[in-house]
Amino acid sequence: MELNIISLGHSALLFDTGKYKILIDPFINENPKSTIKPDVLNPDYIVITHGHGDHIGDTIEIAKRSGAKVVANFEISNWLNGNGVSNTHPMNIGGSFEFPFGKLKQTIAHHSSILPDGSYGGNPSGLIFYFENFKVYFAGDTGLFLDMKLIGEEELDLAILPIGDNFTMGPSDALKAVGFLNPKKIIPVHYGTFDAIGQDPEKFKDMVGAKYPDVETVVLRAGAKYCS
Ligand code: NI
Ligand code: MN
Repeated sequence: MELNIISLGHSALLFDTGKYKILIDPFINENPKSTIKPDVLNPDYIVITHGHGDHIGDTIEIAKRSGAKVVANFEISNWLNGNGVSNTHPMNIGGSFEFPFGKLKQTIAHHSSILPDGSYGGNPSGLIFYFENFKVYFAGDTGLFLDMKLIGEEELDLAILPIGDNFTMGPSDALKAVGFLNPKKIIPVHYGTFDAIGQDPEKFKDMVGAKYPDVETVVLRAGAKYCS
């Protein structure tokens, strides 16, 4: 299986397994980095890490139009049901489920999760995707945590990590995360969208290359595609 990953800017990504399209945290319309409009997206699944506007984004519109199944924590799933999105799959931290595209597990993330209208958004999460022959950890919005060492025991092919600082890990903590996670490759996300998170991904790539020469950093600009 080949996995194509398309960056939609910020930490919005589209995973395409060839058979299934999985949209992660689809912040499109209000995203200054976005190069597309939400109406071109026809995912089979939408996976949400937490309730903040820069992650929920255009979920309601895309889900209603496409009929995609939305995978999110229990509270966000209920909130979506109340906003006219009926096709949801609620999960919670530590739980995994075998979807047609592969197993998906929710992990902890140290962050917050209020929804755009002020509703309680439950706890924020990270995600581990166990695709056929390819394991991906999507950290979501989080600070550094030592339990990333446990996630590293999964023998990750790819870790997608925030580096923006201010709201999440910055470059120096993300570098420590690489040491805990020991992935083959990393993709930095959640930087450059707003002034407060203006990091240089090429500088981060150099930091990783100097400390972990076996780890490849893939800098994926909005609209760019990475193929496993
Ligand atoms: Ni957030
Ligand atoms: Mn965020």
